Amino acid sequence: MQILDPEKLPRHLAIIMDGNGRWAQERMLKRIVGHRKGVETVRTIVEESSRLGIKYLTLFAFSSENWLRPKTEVRALMALLKAYLAKETARMMTNNIRFAVIGDRADLPEDVNKAVTDAVTKTSQNDGMVLTLALSYGSRKEIIQAVAQLVDNVLAGTVTREEISEEIISAYLYTREIPDPDFLIRTSGEMRISNFLLWQIAYTELYFTEVNWPDFGKEEFHSALANYQARERRYGLISDQVRKRR
Ligand code: FPP
Repeated sequence: MQILDPEKLPRHLAIIMDGNGRWAQERMLKRIVGHRKGVETVRTIVEESSRLGIKYLTLFAFSSENWLRPKTEVRALMALLKAYLAKETARMMTNNIRFAVIGDRADLPEDVNKAVTDAVTKTSQNDGMVLTLALSYGSRKEIIQAVAQLVDNVLAGTVTREEISEEIISAYLYTREIPDPDFLIRTSGEMRISNFLLWQIAYTELYFTEVNWPDFGKEEFHSALANYQARERRYGLISDQVRKRR
């Protein structure tokens, strides 16, 4: 496995976990089998991220568009989520992980919402890695609700037109307590963002791998992180300026 520099890990890693369906179909299995295998990968990557000392891990588990999938698949994914939360909360406690959710929680079935609330409450005092699941999440929807709240506050006089800044907008997003991602991984060879954290990834390093999510193991994960560590983040500056700032 690649040797990693513990000083140069992304503070916030975001992952679009894609390819569960294809993984299953390639093996003549039902799509849900791919999702079940995907949950095992979630376990591996959560534990490894926490062990490595990554501070924030955000996983795209269910998009606002995923509600349009066949009902049986939506139901199966919701059941998997509930089972994951019921089972993994104890592991999160052992690993000092704080659990959080971003997305439109009102859309989630009541039992899933309850499992989410339980996990958030139980882990709220943990101060290790923050594991955030994006559930019923869509970035444009997130931006719309932010703009609507901001307009309400401007009309109510609690925010002025002049105060509107990048920081203010960030403070109205679901991610208000999380720094912007440093690194974003997408599995399964698709090279798109699919309405994930559009505002937040302005300066994020992107990484795409052909490997389907169920096959994304520790080795693949370390290669992705090594690739990140070899990059120079310039934020619009030139190399000399970046070196002088260090
Ligand atoms: C993409 O595969 C994956 C998803 C829609 C959701 C990811 C869900 C899991 C890993 C399981 C549940 C998660 C947790 C945290 C318990 P796809 O179905 O889009 O694959 P395809 O593009 O090959 O069809």
